[in-house]
Amino acid sequence: MVPFLRILGIETSCDETAAAVVERDAEGHSRILSDVVLSQLDEHSAYGGVVPEIAARAHVEALDELIEAALKRANVSLADVDAIAATSGPGLIGGLLVGLMTGKAIAKAAGKPLYAVNHLEGHALTARLTDGLSFPYLMLLVSGGHTQLILVRGVGDYERWGTTIDDALGEAFDKTAKLLGLPYPGGPAVERMARDGNAGRFDFPRPLVGETRLDFSFSGLKTAVRQAAQEIAPLSDQDVADICASFQRAISRTLKDRIGRGLQRFKAELPATGGTPALVVAGGVAANLELRATLQGLCDKNGFRFIAPPLSLCTDNAVMIAWAGLERMAIGIAPDPLDVQPRSRWPLDANAERLIGFGKRGAKA
Ligand code: KG4
Ligand code: ZN
Repeated sequence: MVPFLRILGIETSCDETAAAVVERDAEGHSRILSDVVLSQLDEHSAYGGVVPEIAARAHVEALDELIEAALKRANVSLADVDAIAATSGPGLIGGLLVGLMTGKAIAKAAGKPLYAVNHLEGHALTARLTDGLSFPYLMLLVSGGHTQLILVRGVGDYERWGTTIDDALGEAFDKTAKLLGLPYPGGPAVERMARDGNAGRFDFPRPLVGETRLDFSFSGLKTAVRQAAQEIAPLSDQDVADICASFQRAISRTLKDRIGRGLQRFKAELPATGGTPALVVAGGVAANLELRATLQGLCDKNGFRFIAPPLSLCTDNAVMIAWAGLERMAIGIAPDPLDVQPRSRWPLDANAERLIGFGKRGAKA
């Protein structure tokens, strides 16, 4: 029996270039041997968002060196890895091409199998690496491109319970920040301002609250913020702080309703799974402390474990890609052929209905 498997992971789907080496033993225990991430934030911030051409070029320039650095930090050579895992979707097609072609070239040259990994599967399985979580569990993915509540039943076995019908949550933070004159990325700036604000000053809408479907909608909230800002312009720092605090409160209340219903559904539909049920959060918005506190409170109330992996593993990274490859390899899923193509759109749950506006920003995760 092979004592452990070791994979080199490559991630280039959006604005982070990343490479990592990860091991998994026969019992499912993991060891991160290296985790190298180069953020392109500075290159995109002047434009207030990710520019696909700039991203693709930056991946080309950085990836080879990052892979070398990841191998060196892990103190291994290509001969010592069992497989290569590269993100092949969803995401920006230019970046995906760079990462997947590089993965293919290395796999071919080194004679190693290739796993073409779904980036969302990387997010979905991370809690098994960090916390040894067993299936099934619920995952809330809240990033700049996605807001999804997913039932994770097993490797490759996902059911989407909710998604946004318009803006992703991170996108709502970014757009709100922009219209308030705060820097990109907007999430951290809005959270910082909200600390000194009066969350009770504005009563912003909480779309879909009370509905039994588990979807999300954030574009109306952004519009309400714009209208409130226009009515009281010019804005003082206190006005901005009050808007940010009220905006975050509306989001917290929305999530409380939506996710609360999700937890109830989990308990009703999967009552006999044994152990304490768990909710996992992933994606850049998971950095938000108010949101974390809301989810923690909700889990406590409903008897769920709340799992928030360390932030570096919640945001885009190559450890999760290597891990998703390892999980597939460990249960005997065959590697991908070298002519596998990148997919800018690649939902985890192929049966889920496509909702209006969903993924319109290139399905950035
Ligand atoms: O997962 P991520 O790093 O990248 C992708 O979307 O691929 O998520 C980035 C998003 C941005 O929209 C950013 O504004 C948001 O996460 N974000 C936050 C916070 N930190 C980052 N949103 C709210 N509060 C934060 N503290
Ligand atoms: Zn992501």
